Amino acid sequence: MPKTIGVIQVKGGTGRSTIATNLAGELSKHGSTVLIDCDMPQGTSASWFVVREESKRNLFGSLKVDTAINHRELVIKVEQYADTDYIVLDGPPRIAEMTRAALVLADLCLVPVGASKAEIWATSDILELIKEARQVKPINARMLWTRHRPHTKLAQELTELATKELGLTALKSTLGMRVAYMEALGDGLTGAEMPDPHARTEIENLINEAKVLLKKK
Ligand SMILES: Nc1ncnc2c1ncn2[C@@H]1O[C@H](COP(=O)(O)OP(=O)(O)OP(=O)(O)O)[C@@H](O)[C@H]1O
Ligand SMILES: [Mg+2]
Repeated sequence: MPKTIGVIQVKGGTGRSTIATNLAGELSKHGSTVLIDCDMPQGTSASWFVVREESKRNLFGSLKVDTAINHRELVIKVEQYADTDYIVLDGPPRIAEMTRAALVLADLCLVPVGASKAEIWATSDILELIKEARQVKPINARMLWTRHRPHTKLAQELTELATKELGLTALKSTLGMRVAYMEALGDGLTGAEMPDPHARTEIENLINEAKVLLKKK
């Protein structure tokens, strides 16, 4: 049975595709992995994969990319990949049937929260969806701080606001605000494949933590 991670957030531009491509690129080095881009026609994850393939960099890993244009197709696609080790879902930036389906299909849901209070407000909408989905099955959801700038006043304020308003446990791993992630997304790479040692460490930590939560060795 595959272990599925959904990257879910209703606000656009929060870093879903960055996280989904990093997870998929790195998990593919641990087991066969399919990245399903549920944000069509934008298709950032799908484009990232095309660049990755075309770069002919001989990158290690067993990775495929697929797309789903609606929740029915997503359910069918996930069933089709029953013999894969990992499935990563790059969700759409809105409350939609697709977001609900991704929540229910995922063994672990990661909700990126980044640089602003607006993302915390958007996350309260996700909490409603999680509450609904919990009526169907247990949902293992975690917040993931991204574009994180520790030691800033804003980061401290955001952490306080999130603790007060959301009550959604955050992963210990965080992704900083790094040019390496912007470059990696356009170059078909992961942060761990970039020269920036901070990005590498952050992505390694993220993968290790995700694997523990998925109970996958
Ligand atoms: N940790 C980070 N540090 C620096 N830039 C980042 C980080 N995460 C994401 N970005 C940049 O922010 C922009 C939006 O990120 P991304 O495409 O991953 O978000 P998204 O939620 O998938 O957006 P969309 O709603 O467009 O699908 C991109 O240009 C990306 O390179
Ligand atoms: Mg995206």
